[in-house]
Amino acid sequence: MRIAAIALLMTLAFMVNAQEPSTFSSERGRNPIPNLSEPPQIHQWQDTEPQPRQFTQQPPVIPHAIDGYVINQKFNKCLTCHSWANYKESGATKISLTHFSDREGQDLANVAARRYFCVQCHVPQTNASPVVNNRFKPAWAKPEANPAVPRD
Ligand code: HEC
Ligand code: HEC
Repeated sequence: MRIAAIALLMTLAFMVNAQEPSTFSSERGRNPIPNLSEPPQIHQWQDTEPQPRQFTQQPPVIPHAIDGYVINQKFNKCLTCHSWANYKESGATKISLTHFSDREGQDLANVAARRYFCVQCHVPQTNASPVVNNRFKPAWAKPEANPAVPRD
């Protein structure tokens, strides 16, 4: 009796499934399963000048390619140019003083662990069209933000 009930339920479930066309789109898009999925387009970053920041505390975006730049426990490629020891020679912006204090506010001689993995906060940019549109406006774009500050 129980088996018959289960079989009936499964048949019903199958019928419901078969009747309702799926309305959600899966991660592989609306591509039929037998077809190969299309590889996403890879956008290459072109090196540019440092980009303007949208708000005072924004981590600046990376204005150059970082392909193959290793950051691991033993080595940090970014610091070979951006550290205080190397920035002059490489012409890179030196990392900010804020990167030397730990979460208790202690000032350290070297980059704090919480700032070690640079790409947690700094990202390269490309000209790809946004997946989700963004209506963000910098705070200083609002007239009431700070009327004393001239803006263009
Ligand atoms: C080979 C040297 C080199 C390496 C390695 C390097 N950078 Fe740079 N970086 C530069 C130079 C040069 C600039 C641009 C300075 C300029 O044009 O004023 C720059 C600019 C930047 C800026 C923009 C600063 C600003 O004020 O807007 C960020 C952020 C940055 N890099 C992050 C990184 C991160 C994160 C890594 C590692 C993933 C990295 N860089 C690796 C040389 C380097
Ligand atoms: C937890 C987030 C975070 C991490 C991790 C981080 N940064 Fe930053 N970075 C920021 C923010 C926020 C700013 C802008 C405000 C400031 O100066 O603190 C900044 C500023 C900078 C600047 C511009 C300094 C200036 O004087 O204009 C450089 C260059 C930079 N970071 C490089 C790096 C490098 C290299 C690493 C890895 C060793 C790194 N950052 C890791 C958040 C981060």
